[in-house]
Amino acid sequence: MMRRTLRQWAVGLLSVLAVCSMAIAQTKPNVVILATGGTIAGAGADATNSATYQAAKVPVDKLIAGIPQLANVANVRGDQVFQIASESFTNAHLLTLGKRVSALLKQNDVDGIVITHGTDTLEETAYFLNLVIHSEKPIVVVGSMRPGTAMSADGMLNLFNAVTVAGSQDARGKGVLVTMNDEINSARDVAKAINIRTEAFKSPWGALGMVVEGKNYWFRLPAKRHTVNSEFDIDKIDSLPLVEIAYAYGNVSETAYRAFANAGAKAIIHAGTGNGSVSAAVVPVLQDLRSKGIQIIRSSRVNAGGFVLRNAEQPDDKYDWIVAHDLNPQKAKILASVALNKTNDSKELQRIFWEY
Ligand code: DGL
Repeated sequence: MMRRTLRQWAVGLLSVLAVCSMAIAQTKPNVVILATGGTIAGAGADATNSATYQAAKVPVDKLIAGIPQLANVANVRGDQVFQIASESFTNAHLLTLGKRVSALLKQNDVDGIVITHGTDTLEETAYFLNLVIHSEKPIVVVGSMRPGTAMSADGMLNLFNAVTVAGSQDARGKGVLVTMNDEINSARDVAKAINIRTEAFKSPWGALGMVVEGKNYWFRLPAKRHTVNSEFDIDKIDSLPLVEIAYAYGNVSETAYRAFANAGAKAIIHAGTGNGSVSAAVVPVLQDLRSKGIQIIRSSRVNAGGFVLRNAEQPDDKYDWIVAHDLNPQKAKILASVALNKTNDSKELQRIFWEY
Protein backbone atom coordinates (compact mmCIF):
# COMPACT_ATOMS: atom_id res chain seq x y z
CA MET A 1 0.00 0.00 0.00
CA MET A 2 2.75 2.34 1.07
CA ARG A 3 4.81 1.59 -2.08
CA ARG A 4 1.77 2.35 -4.33
CA THR A 5 1.29 5.73 -2.57
CA LEU A 6 4.96 6.63 -3.08
CA ARG A 7 4.65 5.63 -6.74
CA GLN A 8 1.53 7.71 -7.13
CA TRP A 9 3.30 10.65 -5.49
CA ALA A 10 6.28 10.28 -7.89
CA VAL A 11 3.99 10.12 -10.95
CA GLY A 12 2.04 13.09 -9.69
CA LEU A 13 5.18 15.13 -9.04
CA LEU A 14 6.64 14.31 -12.45
CA SER A 15 3.44 15.34 -14.23
CA VAL A 16 3.37 18.63 -12.30
CA LEU A 17 7.01 19.25 -13.28
CA ALA A 18 6.17 18.41 -16.89
CA VAL A 19 3.29 20.89 -16.90
CA CYS A 20 5.46 23.56 -15.28
CA SER A 21 8.32 23.08 -17.76
CA MET A 22 5.84 23.30 -20.66
CA ALA A 23 4.37 26.46 -19.14
CA ILE A 24 7.86 27.98 -18.77
CA ALA A 25 8.74 26.94 -22.33
CA GLN A 26 5.57 28.65 -23.54
CA THR A 27 6.48 31.86 -21.67
CA LYS A 28 9.83 31.96 -23.48
CA PRO A 29 9.74 33.39 -27.01
CA ASN A 30 10.26 31.13 -30.03
CA VAL A 31 13.25 32.39 -32.03
CA VAL A 32 14.44 30.90 -35.31
CA ILE A 33 18.09 31.32 -36.29
CA LEU A 34 18.59 31.40 -40.07
CA ALA A 35 22.28 30.76 -40.74
CA THR A 36 23.97 31.99 -43.91
CA GLY A 37 27.71 31.55 -43.11
CA GLY A 38 30.35 34.22 -42.52
CA THR A 39 32.97 34.55 -39.83
CA ILE A 40 30.49 33.80 -37.07
CA ALA A 41 30.55 30.31 -38.59
CA GLY A 42 34.26 30.52 -39.28
CA ALA A 43 37.14 28.38 -38.05
CA GLY A 44 40.84 29.14 -37.75
CA ALA A 45 43.77 26.79 -37.33
CA ASP A 46 44.80 28.17 -33.97
CA ALA A 47 43.34 30.23 -31.11
CA THR A 48 45.76 33.01 -32.00
CA ASN A 49 44.19 33.26 -35.50
CA SER A 50 41.74 36.10 -34.87
CA ALA A 51 41.84 37.29 -38.49
CA THR A 52 43.16 34.32 -40.45
CA TYR A 53 40.45 31.66 -40.81
CA GLN A 54 37.96 30.10 -43.15
CA ALA A 55 34.48 31.64 -43.06
CA ALA A 56 31.27 29.60 -43.38
CA LYS A 57 32.43 26.29 -41.88
CA VAL A 58 30.47 25.71 -38.64
CA PRO A 59 26.84 24.53 -39.02
CA VAL A 60 24.05 26.36 -37.20
CA ASP A 61 23.25 23.47 -34.85
CA LYS A 62 26.87 23.56 -33.62
CA LEU A 63 26.65 27.34 -33.11
CA ILE A 64 23.52 26.84 -30.99
CA ALA A 65 25.01 23.91 -29.05
CA GLY A 66 28.03 26.08 -28.24
CA ILE A 67 25.85 28.55 -26.30
CA PRO A 68 23.69 26.57 -23.82
CA GLN A 69 22.62 29.87 -22.22
CA LEU A 70 20.45 30.54 -25.31
CA ALA A 71 17.88 28.15 -23.78
CA ASN A 72 17.45 30.58 -20.87
CA VAL A 73 16.23 33.41 -23.10
CA ALA A 74 14.27 31.66 -25.86
CA ASN A 75 13.14 28.40 -27.43
CA VAL A 76 15.66 28.37 -30.27
CA ARG A 77 15.85 26.33 -33.44
CA GLY A 78 18.24 26.71 -36.36
CA ASP A 79 17.95 26.48 -40.13
CA GLN A 80 21.01 26.46 -42.41
CA VAL A 81 19.79 28.58 -45.34
CA PHE A 82 23.23 29.06 -46.94
CA GLN A 83 26.83 28.43 -45.87
CA ILE A 84 28.76 31.16 -47.69
CA ALA A 85 31.07 34.08 -47.09
CA SER A 86 28.90 37.15 -47.46
CA GLU A 87 31.03 38.81 -50.17
CA SER A 88 29.52 36.10 -52.36
CA PHE A 89 25.90 37.10 -51.71
CA THR A 90 23.88 37.67 -54.88
CA ASN A 91 20.42 39.10 -55.54
CA ALA A 92 19.17 35.50 -55.67
CA HIS A 93 20.42 34.95 -52.12
CA LEU A 94 18.66 38.13 -50.97
CA LEU A 95 15.37 37.04 -52.52
CA THR A 96 15.56 33.48 -51.14
CA LEU A 97 16.40 34.71 -47.65
CA GLY A 98 13.75 37.43 -47.75
CA LYS A 99 11.00 35.03 -48.79
CA ARG A 100 12.06 32.55 -46.07
CA VAL A 101 11.96 35.30 -43.41
CA SER A 102 8.56 36.52 -44.61
CA ALA A 103 7.05 33.03 -44.55
CA LEU A 104 8.44 32.22 -41.09
CA LEU A 105 7.20 35.47 -39.54
CA LYS A 106 3.67 34.67 -40.71
CA GLN A 107 3.75 31.62 -38.43
CA ASN A 108 2.16 32.09 -34.99
CA ASP A 109 4.85 29.90 -33.39
CA VAL A 110 7.66 32.24 -34.47
CA ASP A 111 8.19 35.34 -32.30
CA GLY A 112 11.45 36.59 -33.78
CA ILE A 113 14.20 35.77 -36.24
CA VAL A 114 17.99 35.97 -36.03
CA ILE A 115 20.05 35.83 -39.20
CA THR A 116 23.73 34.92 -38.82
CA HIS A 117 25.65 36.49 -41.68
CA GLY A 118 29.13 37.45 -42.83
CA THR A 119 29.96 41.02 -41.91
CA ASP A 120 31.19 42.10 -45.36
CA THR A 121 27.71 42.59 -46.87
CA LEU A 122 25.66 42.30 -43.67
CA GLU A 123 24.50 45.93 -43.95
CA GLU A 124 23.11 45.31 -47.44
CA THR A 125 21.10 42.24 -46.47
CA ALA A 126 19.83 43.89 -43.30
CA TYR A 127 18.72 47.02 -45.20
CA PHE A 128 17.07 44.91 -47.91
CA LEU A 129 15.00 43.08 -45.29
CA ASN A 130 14.20 46.42 -43.62
CA LEU A 131 12.63 47.55 -46.91
CA VAL A 132 10.63 44.47 -47.90
CA ILE A 133 9.52 42.43 -44.83
CA HIS A 134 6.04 43.27 -43.57
CA SER A 135 6.14 42.27 -39.92
CA GLU A 136 6.44 43.99 -36.55
CA LYS A 137 8.27 40.97 -35.14
CA PRO A 138 11.99 41.51 -34.41
CA ILE A 139 14.45 40.55 -37.12
CA VAL A 140 18.07 40.72 -35.94
CA VAL A 141 21.05 40.29 -38.23
CA VAL A 142 24.31 39.34 -36.51
CA GLY A 143 27.87 38.45 -37.40
CA SER A 144 31.26 38.41 -35.79
CA MET A 145 34.69 39.78 -36.55
CA ARG A 146 36.58 36.81 -35.12
CA PRO A 147 35.96 33.09 -35.71
CA GLY A 148 34.71 31.02 -32.77
CA THR A 149 38.08 29.26 -32.61
CA ALA A 150 39.93 32.45 -31.68
CA MET A 151 40.76 33.80 -28.23
CA SER A 152 38.22 36.47 -27.20
CA ALA A 153 35.95 35.48 -30.06
CA ASP A 154 32.98 37.87 -30.31
CA GLY A 155 30.50 35.56 -32.03
CA MET A 156 29.07 33.81 -28.98
CA LEU A 157 28.06 36.98 -27.15
CA ASN A 158 26.91 38.64 -30.39
CA LEU A 159 24.63 35.65 -31.07
CA PHE A 160 23.38 35.51 -27.48
CA ASN A 161 22.57 39.23 -27.67
CA ALA A 162 20.86 38.78 -31.04
CA VAL A 163 18.58 36.04 -29.69
CA THR A 164 17.84 38.17 -26.63
CA VAL A 165 16.77 41.11 -28.80
CA ALA A 166 14.88 38.93 -31.30
CA GLY A 167 12.84 37.47 -28.43
CA SER A 168 12.10 40.86 -26.87
CA GLN A 169 8.70 42.53 -26.98
CA ASP A 170 10.39 45.96 -26.82
CA ALA A 171 12.27 45.23 -30.06
CA ARG A 172 9.02 44.92 -32.02
CA GLY A 173 8.25 47.58 -34.62
CA LYS A 174 11.75 49.08 -34.67
CA GLY A 175 12.67 47.75 -38.09
CA VAL A 176 15.41 45.27 -38.82
CA LEU A 177 18.16 45.46 -36.23
CA VAL A 178 21.87 44.61 -36.15
CA THR A 179 23.45 43.54 -32.85
CA MET A 180 27.24 43.63 -32.79
CA ASN A 181 29.66 44.51 -30.00
CA ASP A 182 26.82 45.03 -27.44
CA GLU A 183 25.18 47.72 -29.63
CA ILE A 184 21.73 47.58 -31.24
CA ASN A 185 21.85 49.41 -34.56
CA SER A 186 19.23 50.18 -37.15
CA ALA A 187 19.66 48.13 -40.33
CA ARG A 188 19.08 51.33 -42.29
CA ASP A 189 21.91 53.33 -40.71
CA VAL A 190 24.57 50.80 -39.76
CA ALA A 191 27.60 50.01 -41.92
CA LYS A 192 30.83 48.07 -41.55
CA ALA A 193 33.14 51.03 -40.91
CA ILE A 194 36.28 49.22 -39.73
CA ASN A 195 37.48 46.02 -41.34
CA ILE A 196 39.52 44.33 -38.60
CA ARG A 197 38.21 45.38 -35.17
CA THR A 198 35.35 43.90 -33.13
CA GLU A 199 33.87 47.43 -32.97
CA ALA A 200 33.47 47.27 -36.76
CA PHE A 201 29.87 48.41 -37.14
CA LYS A 202 28.92 52.07 -36.80
CA SER A 203 25.77 54.10 -37.48
CA PRO A 204 26.63 57.67 -38.50
CA TRP A 205 23.57 58.86 -36.61
CA GLY A 206 24.29 56.65 -33.57
CA ALA A 207 23.08 53.29 -32.33
CA LEU A 208 19.44 52.76 -31.34
CA GLY A 209 20.57 51.22 -28.07
CA MET A 210 22.58 48.54 -26.32
CA VAL A 211 21.98 45.02 -25.12
CA VAL A 212 23.86 44.13 -21.95
CA GLU A 213 23.57 40.94 -19.87
CA GLY A 214 20.28 39.96 -21.48
CA LYS A 215 18.58 43.36 -21.25
CA ASN A 216 17.89 45.92 -23.99
CA TYR A 217 18.48 49.64 -23.41
CA TRP A 218 16.91 51.93 -26.05
CA PHE A 219 17.94 55.55 -26.66
CA ARG A 220 16.36 56.46 -29.99
CA LEU A 221 14.04 55.21 -32.73
CA PRO A 222 14.40 54.93 -36.56
CA ALA A 223 13.20 58.02 -38.46
CA LYS A 224 12.70 56.51 -41.91
CA ARG A 225 10.00 54.14 -43.28
CA HIS A 226 10.58 50.43 -42.79
CA THR A 227 8.93 46.96 -42.62
CA VAL A 228 5.18 47.37 -42.05
CA ASN A 229 5.30 51.02 -43.21
CA SER A 230 7.16 50.17 -46.40
CA GLU A 231 5.51 50.30 -49.82
CA PHE A 232 7.74 47.40 -50.93
CA ASP A 233 6.82 43.77 -50.24
CA ILE A 234 9.09 40.73 -50.71
CA ASP A 235 6.04 38.62 -51.53
CA LYS A 236 5.54 40.75 -54.66
CA ILE A 237 9.22 40.87 -55.73
CA ASP A 238 10.61 38.07 -57.90
CA SER A 239 13.66 39.79 -59.35
CA LEU A 240 15.95 42.70 -58.62
CA PRO A 241 17.04 44.93 -61.56
CA LEU A 242 20.78 45.29 -62.13
CA VAL A 243 22.20 48.31 -60.31
CA GLU A 244 25.95 48.98 -60.32
CA ILE A 245 28.27 51.29 -58.36
CA ALA A 246 31.00 53.39 -59.97
CA TYR A 247 33.64 54.65 -57.57
CA ALA A 248 34.96 58.18 -58.14
CA TYR A 249 38.55 59.42 -57.62
CA GLY A 250 41.10 61.77 -59.21
CA ASN A 251 41.77 61.06 -62.91
CA VAL A 252 38.50 59.09 -63.16
CA SER A 253 37.29 58.23 -66.66
CA GLU A 254 33.90 57.26 -68.13
CA THR A 255 34.99 53.66 -68.68
CA ALA A 256 33.19 52.06 -65.74
CA TYR A 257 29.93 53.94 -66.38
CA ARG A 258 29.90 52.89 -70.07
CA ALA A 259 30.70 49.29 -69.13
CA PHE A 260 27.89 49.14 -66.57
CA ALA A 261 25.43 50.58 -69.07
CA ASN A 262 26.52 48.07 -71.71
CA ALA A 263 26.03 45.29 -69.14
CA GLY A 264 22.39 46.32 -68.75
CA ALA A 265 22.41 48.36 -65.55
CA LYS A 266 19.07 50.09 -64.95
CA ALA A 267 20.69 52.53 -62.51
CA ILE A 268 24.24 53.55 -61.71
CA ILE A 269 25.20 54.66 -58.21
CA HIS A 270 27.88 57.30 -58.50
CA ALA A 271 30.07 56.92 -55.38
CA GLY A 272 31.26 60.48 -55.72
CA THR A 273 34.05 62.35 -54.03
CA GLY A 274 32.96 64.70 -51.23
CA ASN A 275 29.34 65.77 -51.62
CA GLY A 276 28.75 63.28 -54.43
CA SER A 277 30.77 65.45 -56.82
CA VAL A 278 31.08 64.48 -60.48
CA SER A 279 34.30 64.99 -62.45
CA ALA A 280 33.99 67.23 -65.52
CA ALA A 281 35.26 64.20 -67.47
CA VAL A 282 32.25 62.15 -66.33
CA VAL A 283 29.32 64.60 -66.55
CA PRO A 284 28.80 64.04 -70.32
CA VAL A 285 28.57 60.25 -70.05
CA LEU A 286 26.11 60.51 -67.15
CA GLN A 287 23.96 62.90 -69.20
CA ASP A 288 24.13 60.50 -72.15
CA LEU A 289 23.20 57.44 -70.04
CA ARG A 290 20.34 59.36 -68.40
CA SER A 291 19.01 60.27 -71.85
CA LYS A 292 19.00 56.52 -72.61
CA GLY A 293 16.78 55.81 -69.58
CA ILE A 294 19.40 54.79 -67.02
CA GLN A 295 18.86 56.34 -63.60
CA ILE A 296 21.84 58.26 -62.19
CA ILE A 297 22.03 58.33 -58.38
CA ARG A 298 24.63 60.45 -56.64
CA SER A 299 25.98 58.95 -53.41
CA SER A 300 29.33 59.65 -51.80
CA ARG A 301 32.46 57.65 -51.01
CA VAL A 302 32.48 59.77 -47.83
CA ASN A 303 29.75 58.57 -45.48
CA ALA A 304 30.32 58.97 -41.78
CA GLY A 305 27.61 61.38 -40.77
CA GLY A 306 26.75 63.52 -43.79
CA PHE A 307 24.48 63.42 -46.84
CA VAL A 308 24.56 64.40 -50.50
CA LEU A 309 22.77 67.70 -51.00
CA ARG A 310 20.50 67.93 -54.07
CA ASN A 311 21.36 70.72 -56.56
CA ALA A 312 24.46 71.72 -54.56
CA GLU A 313 27.56 71.01 -56.64
CA GLN A 314 25.55 69.40 -59.46
CA PRO A 315 22.31 70.71 -61.12
CA ASP A 316 20.36 67.54 -60.35
CA ASP A 317 17.05 69.08 -61.43
CA LYS A 318 18.52 70.06 -64.80
CA TYR A 319 20.22 66.69 -65.40
CA ASP A 320 17.28 64.70 -63.90
CA TRP A 321 19.63 62.94 -61.50
CA ILE A 322 18.76 61.55 -58.04
CA VAL A 323 20.64 62.05 -54.76
CA ALA A 324 21.03 59.11 -52.36
CA HIS A 325 20.62 61.42 -49.34
CA ASP A 326 22.72 59.87 -46.52
CA LEU A 327 22.77 56.32 -47.88
CA ASN A 328 26.22 54.93 -48.63
CA PRO A 329 26.73 53.58 -52.19
CA GLN A 330 26.02 49.94 -51.31
CA LYS A 331 22.78 50.81 -49.51
CA ALA A 332 21.77 53.16 -52.33
CA LYS A 333 22.22 50.17 -54.63
CA ILE A 334 19.87 48.06 -52.49
CA LEU A 335 17.19 50.77 -52.35
CA ALA A 336 17.47 51.49 -56.08
CA SER A 337 17.08 47.80 -57.00
CA VAL A 338 14.00 47.46 -54.77
CA ALA A 339 12.49 50.78 -55.90
CA LEU A 340 13.00 50.05 -59.63
CA ASN A 341 10.68 47.11 -59.15
CA LYS A 342 7.97 49.67 -58.54
CA THR A 343 8.81 52.71 -60.66
CA ASN A 344 11.30 54.15 -63.16
CA ASP A 345 10.07 57.70 -62.64
CA SER A 346 12.99 59.80 -61.34
CA LYS A 347 10.78 62.08 -59.24
CA GLU A 348 9.15 59.07 -57.57
CA LEU A 349 12.59 57.53 -57.06
CA GLN A 350 13.82 60.72 -55.41
CA ARG A 351 10.81 60.65 -53.06
CA ILE A 352 11.71 57.08 -52.16
CA PHE A 353 15.29 58.09 -51.37
CA TRP A 354 14.01 60.85 -49.09
CA GLU A 355 11.65 58.48 -47.25
CA TYR A 356 13.66 55.26 -46.87
N1 DGL B 1 34.33 36.67 -45.69
C1 DGL B 1 33.75 37.67 -44.82
C2 DGL B 1 32.23 37.53 -44.80
O1 DGL B 1 31.75 36.40 -44.87
C3 DGL B 1 34.25 37.51 -43.44
C4 DGL B 1 33.90 38.67 -42.62
C5 DGL B 1 32.99 38.30 -41.49
O2 DGL B 1 32.02 37.53 -41.65
O3 DGL B 1 33.24 38.89 -40.45
O4 DGL B 1 31.54 38.56 -44.72
